Amino acid sequence: MNSNNKRVALVTGANRGIGFEIARQLGSKGITVIIGARNESKGVEAREKLARQNLDVHFVMLDVTEHTTMEAAIGRIRDKFGRLDVLVNNAGIMIDPHTSILELSLPLFENTLETNAFGPLLLSQACVSLMKENNYGRIVNISSTLGSLTDIINPESTYTEIQSPAYRLSKILLNGITVLLARELKGTNILINSVCPGWVKTEIGGQNAPLTPEQGAATPVWLATLPDDGPTGGFFRERHPIPW
Ligand SMILES: NC(=O)c1ccc[n+]([C@@H]2O[C@H](COP(=O)([O-])OP(=O)(O)OC[C@H]3O[C@@H](n4cnc5c(N)ncnc54)[C@H](OP(=O)(O)O)[C@@H]3O)[C@@H](O)[C@H]2O)c1
Repeated sequence: MNSNNKRVALVTGANRGIGFEIARQLGSKGITVIIGARNESKGVEAREKLARQNLDVHFVMLDVTEHTTMEAAIGRIRDKFGRLDVLVNNAGIMIDPHTSILELSLPLFENTLETNAFGPLLLSQACVSLMKENNYGRIVNISSTLGSLTDIINPESTYTEIQSPAYRLSKILLNGITVLLARELKGTNILINSVCPGWVKTEIGGQNAPLTPEQGAATPVWLATLPDDGPTGGFFRERHPIPW
């Protein structure tokens, strides 16, 4: 147990973008935050930036495509804090913005799935046992409206021009993982939800995006701090359920 009995949160891909902002907002709520990053110097730099704001922030090396780094990270969290209350599966890639599904190559598809779906599943599996020890857990999967089947078949969608088949399919899979985990964890006080942060100005979102990372992080942070009677197995945007 950490000295203050404070809640402990792990955010993947938290060295920049929405993940960094989620880490900052969770830290501002008095939660001990662990920045997961695959690049040590970027992770340490992000940690230092938040530590300068007097937040209780730590760094752990974590590449969501490398199973060994995930196991090592959870082992270090267990040793240092003895608990994990919140997992935000934020790390993600979009490497196929102009690819048609007719031309989607298997390596590109596999790369995207490994980061955006397999990583979150494996990390959630590893974290659930630690969460069960305290009968408390909040898992937030950062998904996207691009992975909403309802939105994909909507001819009026704002996103009809965007191709990204691998990215879209990875988020559909991530949403499926959310639903299956929620069903499995019913009655455990481990709540798991998917969220679309909105279209946010980051490396993935680009410069034309209307939202700031601060705005994009708001609903993920709400889901990461839900009360015990909060929702589970849902898909949210701006704190409202959205269709799969
Ligand atoms: N921006 C949007 O409009 C938008 C909309 C819907 C959903 N999302 C989702 O929001 C999440 C965050 O994206 P963002 O917009 O903040 O983009 P971003 O600025 O590109 O951040 C992505 C983060 O993921 C990390 N990452 C990538 N692959 C990783 C791996 N294998 N292991 C660990 N970390 C890895 C990156 O680390 P490096 O610095 O090392 O590359 C970076 O920290 C993603 O899941 C994305 O799909 C974004």
